[in-house]
Parts: sequence; structure tokens; C-alpha cells
Amino acid sequence: LVWKGQNMAQKNGTQMTEFILLGFSTETQPLLFGIFVIIYIFTFIGNLSIILIVTMDPILQSPMYLFLRNLSIIEIFYISVTVPRMLKDFLQEKKAISIMGCAAQFYFFCCLGATECFTLAFMAYDRYVAICHPLHYMSIMTKRRCLSMSIASWLTGMVLPLTIFIFRLTFCGPNVINHFFCDISPLLNLSCTDLSFTELVDFILAMVVIMIPLVLIIITYVFILWTVLRIPNNQGRQKTFSTCASHLTIVIIFYTTTLFIYARPRKANPFDSNKLVTVFYSVVTPLLNPIIYCLRNKEVKLALKKTFRWKDFWKLRP
Ligand SMILES: *[C@@H]1O[C@H](CO)[C@@H](O)[C@H](O)[C@H]1NC(C)=O
Repeated sequence: LVWKGQNMAQKNGTQMTEFILLGFSTETQPLLFGIFVIIYIFTFIGNLSIILIVTMDPILQSPMYLFLRNLSIIEIFYISVTVPRMLKDFLQEKKAISIMGCAAQFYFFCCLGATECFTLAFMAYDRYVAICHPLHYMSIMTKRRCLSMSIASWLTGMVLPLTIFIFRLTFCGPNVINHFFCDISPLLNLSCTDLSFTELVDFILAMVVIMIPLVLIIITYVFILWTVLRIPNNQGRQKTFSTCASHLTIVIIFYTTTLFIYARPRKANPFDSNKLVTVFYSVVTPLLNPIIYCLRNKEVKLALKKTFRWKDFWKLRP
């Protein structure tokens, strides 16, 4: 995984070994530092709580919650790829990142983003089976099949972004990235190789990673809505739909922001508005995930109360 940039000399003859991450404007930094520290702590605690209660509560052993635990693990890693590094940069005068560091950050960011897309799609499928084929749920969503789905989403997430590295880019300066982490579009903007091929590969990959799961999610929700709307009484309709409301909320937030960034032509993007949207899907979605599930889901709320009552804490242990 060596980016060609490492070997490339700058036009003036000096070697290019690092990028400078501009981050946010200097005046807003102390405020943003505080906000991001708080968001990071809450995201960590929130997702860790979900991991803990799903692990400890025997009621939450259905595929839906096991996938939710997968999602919480993804979110903790996802926010840890960007935020700690950004916080460190806030405190430093010189916000440099080595080319390998940049490549690693970008790779893990892609991995986790792709894994999240596929996990969200499998969660949608789980809701589809539960609502549209409730009698066959147990025989369709077997432990083994669920495990294969989760392994598939992790593997796809790890393998697909690798392809980007095969089409190496050349960087010949300037090396200033107007962003708070090494995302693909600002990097492509700095490259001096002919981008048409890389952009095509990148576009196709983005379509595979983003659009295939999205289309699957849309199809499953069409079936879910179709089934829910045929339920005769209002109460039954609400009750049935409430089990996928949290999932749908996460999907909408994650996909609208991701599509806004990745489904547009690269070179034309004004980066300052992009930074804000990127904050949303890279930092805010991981935070919202536990909040949405805890507020909207009765079972999670109950399990949370049970788990964090000291007396019952010990009872729950196997
Ligand atoms: C991920 O999801 C699968 C399928 O539901 C489950 O078997 C597995 O335990 C989950 N892994 C973690 C670490 O939550």
C-alpha cells in the first residue's frame, strides 16, 4: 500500500513526504475542540453501552440487536479514525500528516463506511423478514446465516477500498488539504495524475458500496410499507412499524449526507460546505445511533434500565 506520492519529487526538487491538514478556521478552534471532545466521549459511552447491554441481556439476542451491536462497534471505530487525530491537530501549530498516515486514515475510513452501508442493508433485510414473513423468521434468519451476513459486510468493507490503492495517485504539491481528515475528494483535487481513470474507478466503487445497499434498503422498505399499510387497525400498524423506525432514521441520516458528498463531481466541490456535511456523517451519525435506538426502542430502554441498576447488574451475568 504505497502511495506513489511518497516517491514523487515536488516540482522544486524537494521530496513530498507529508500533507498539511487545514482543518477548521483558527477562531472557531477552541469552541470546536470542546464540542468534539464532548461528542467523542458521548459517542464512545453510548455505543459501548449498546455493546454491553446486547451482550448481557438475554432478551436482546435476536439478529436485530446482534446487528445493532455490529453497528455500534463500527461507529466506535469510525469516529476514532477521524476525531482523535483532529483533536490532536487542534492543539498543534503544524498540522502535518505523513502520506502513509493519510493513506491509512483514508483506508480505514472507507472500510468502516462500506461496512456500515452493508450492515445497514442487512438490518433492513432482517426487518423485512420479521414484518413480511413473520412465521418463517426463525428459519430464515438462522444464527449461521446472520453470522455470514455480518462477516460478508466486514469483508466487503475491507476488500473494496483496497482497489482504490491499486490505481495509485501521484502528488506533486501543493500539499495542503483543506479538510479535517484525509478524505478522497480533497486528495484527488491535489493529485497531478490524469484523474479520468481514477475518478471512473472511484465512481464505480462508490456506486457498488453506496448504491447497492441503498437500493436493497429501498426495496425492502417498499415491501415493509406495503405490508404495514395492509394491517387493518391503526395501532397494529404503528406497533409493527415502530420496530424499524430507528433503523430507518439512521439510514436516512447516513445516506443523505454520504450521497451529498460522494455522488457529485469532485473537482467542482466547494470544500467549506462539504466539511460541515462530512462532520455530519463522520461524527454526528455515530453519536446519533445509540441515542436514536435508546429513545425509540422500548426493549433497549428497558434493558438499559435493567443493566445499569447495580443490583440486577450481577443477576444478568451468566
Ligand atoms: C454481528 O452480527 C452477527 C449476526 O447477527 C452476530 O452473530 C455477531 O455476534 C455480531 N458480532 C458482534 C461483535 O456484535
